[in-house]
Amino acid sequence: MGQIELTGDVYYPSPETIANANLKDRSEFDKRAEQDYEGFWADFANELDWFQKWDKVIDDSEKPFYKWFTGGRTNISYNCLDRHVKTYRRNKLALIWEGEDGEHRTMSYFRLHNDVCRFANLLKSMAVKKGDRVTIYMGRTPEIIIAMLACARIGAVHSVVYGGFSVESLTERIEDSQSRVLIVADGAYQRGKIVKLKDIADEALQRAGTVEHVIVVKRTGQDVYMEPGRDMWYHELNKLPIANQPCVVEETSSEDPLFILYTSGTTGKPKAILHTHGGYMVGTYVTTKYYLDVQDADRIWCTADPGWITGHSYIVYGPLLNGATIFMYEGAPYHPYPNRWWQMIEKYGINILYTAPTAIRGFMRFGDSWANRHDLSSLRILGSVGEPINPEAWKWYHRVIGRERCPVIDTWWQTETGMHMISPFPTMPLKPGSGSLPFPGVKMEVVDEQGNPVKANEEGYLIIKTPWPAMVRTIFNDPQRMVDQYWTKYPGAYMTGDSAKIDEDGYIWVIGRVDDVIKVSGYRLGTAEIESAFVSHHAVAEAAAIGVPHEIKGNAIYAYIILKQNLQPSDELIEELRKHIAHEVGPIAKPEHIEFVDKLPKTRSGKIMRRVLKAQAMGEDPGNISTLEE
Ligand code: PRX
Repeated sequence: MGQIELTGDVYYPSPETIANANLKDRSEFDKRAEQDYEGFWADFANELDWFQKWDKVIDDSEKPFYKWFTGGRTNISYNCLDRHVKTYRRNKLALIWEGEDGEHRTMSYFRLHNDVCRFANLLKSMAVKKGDRVTIYMGRTPEIIIAMLACARIGAVHSVVYGGFSVESLTERIEDSQSRVLIVADGAYQRGKIVKLKDIADEALQRAGTVEHVIVVKRTGQDVYMEPGRDMWYHELNKLPIANQPCVVEETSSEDPLFILYTSGTTGKPKAILHTHGGYMVGTYVTTKYYLDVQDADRIWCTADPGWITGHSYIVYGPLLNGATIFMYEGAPYHPYPNRWWQMIEKYGINILYTAPTAIRGFMRFGDSWANRHDLSSLRILGSVGEPINPEAWKWYHRVIGRERCPVIDTWWQTETGMHMISPFPTMPLKPGSGSLPFPGVKMEVVDEQGNPVKANEEGYLIIKTPWPAMVRTIFNDPQRMVDQYWTKYPGAYMTGDSAKIDEDGYIWVIGRVDDVIKVSGYRLGTAEIESAFVSHHAVAEAAAIGVPHEIKGNAIYAYIILKQNLQPSDELIEELRKHIAHEVGPIAKPEHIEFVDKLPKTRSGKIMRRVLKAQAMGEDPGNISTLEE
């Protein structure tokens, strides 16, 4: 990009960064996208393998249910593996993995392909067919990747549930997806302890009745209950001759579902965002290549969990589509010491690190010396995702981890967008705290209540006005909800649920959620899930949950509880409620603060005014409270 002068605090790319980048000058893409948006995407799609080419790039005949590459046939798992196995990449490492306990494993593309085919055969032997949902509930081990790719290979739809979620969250997701098969690990290591995933799954299976077969992957090795006729060990199944057969890939159509992933929304239960083989594949391939700048010899480490969209798109699919080497680490960041990450970057020569601001802030508090002890010169690109990155954290990341050589790529996107939507390319001038510009050709605006664009530097609602290939196709089981939630308030545009500002240079500054979604340490939770988990406790009559700014986590959860009649508040009860939330939703949803109250602020129609609670928690003026009941 021609180096125009920008306003504010700006970091310009080094000549070295420009010389090495996959995309030297974004104006090439901008121009191409402006002239022929569909052709622009078709060119990218043509870099991948198709069993049959598409007739139409964008089909908007049933919008907002957009379709992409219609008429085309492909398979994302084929493009991640078979495409490379046919080339010199056959013997290249697809995956390097390190357990929290120091165990490590590597897999070539050849081996990963082989394991995926075997796993796919096992699924087929359980009568899993194209379109069937399979729930996966595991820690960060290679088998989670194998299981996802195996589902995709046969056209089954994976539904990965984050291993940090607990009984009720897992139950709901199994029930809603109507999965007949569950893939689970016996346990996972976290902070030196074992998270008993199989025990949690057993409890969930007592509540949810659809599962007929459970494949259990051995990781931690403690005794687990195995239900006869239902539960089988993966390592035993894998020895059966049936695993060893050729596994023909399913030639899925572009719009065949690839996965569903549950995410929290404004009201009610988490919703299953559905993504498909064609568009999602093209979107994650391209953004990994040009934003994260993945190159053939690169080792990329996305520190997210495969149970969230970041893990789906940028641990698994994007890097493998590009033929890169994935690095995955099982455990906790500071275990056993706060240099664990830096040690592994040095040991494995990681080139691209993609993580969340909350992790960066967490490391910052331990000072610079833990990172300074390690050779981090292999790093070329640093990425950030999940929440706004505060400029201090950005600068620390850039200086201490990137040694002022690596651009910080602040990527804004969502479960629903499937792929990065706002991000700088490595060769662009960077402003700490801003994700810069939308993907070439994608029009975004910041608007007021009525949908009119606001002035530069004024806050408003962030909306997207152009379709993109990895866009959410529907909400599984509830298509109307997709229309109501995203496409109704601003006709013709997708409502992100975020507020933002656009500065005089056109750079976008995302501020945060404007709905009842709380981002805690980058994890997306809904007030509704937390509140309903509270109410499932026998002592609780009513509950309200809010997010309050927190130095490390971004937001912390505060909960306000009305107890049932005649029950007395106590410290023991607070502890019990915290445990109850951890057991039902997951440890990430544990409130920082619980307060017992007699009343909750409500509108006359009975809606909790969380804004009033938040103002009170932060010692601020609640603003307009004319709709408050009393
Ligand atoms: O509020 C935005 C925030 O994360 C939300 C999406 O959460 P989720 O679907 O879990 O996906 C997270 C990872 C893609 C957004 O609505 N968010 C994500 N990335 C950023 C961000 N906020 C500011 N800057 C970002 N880079």
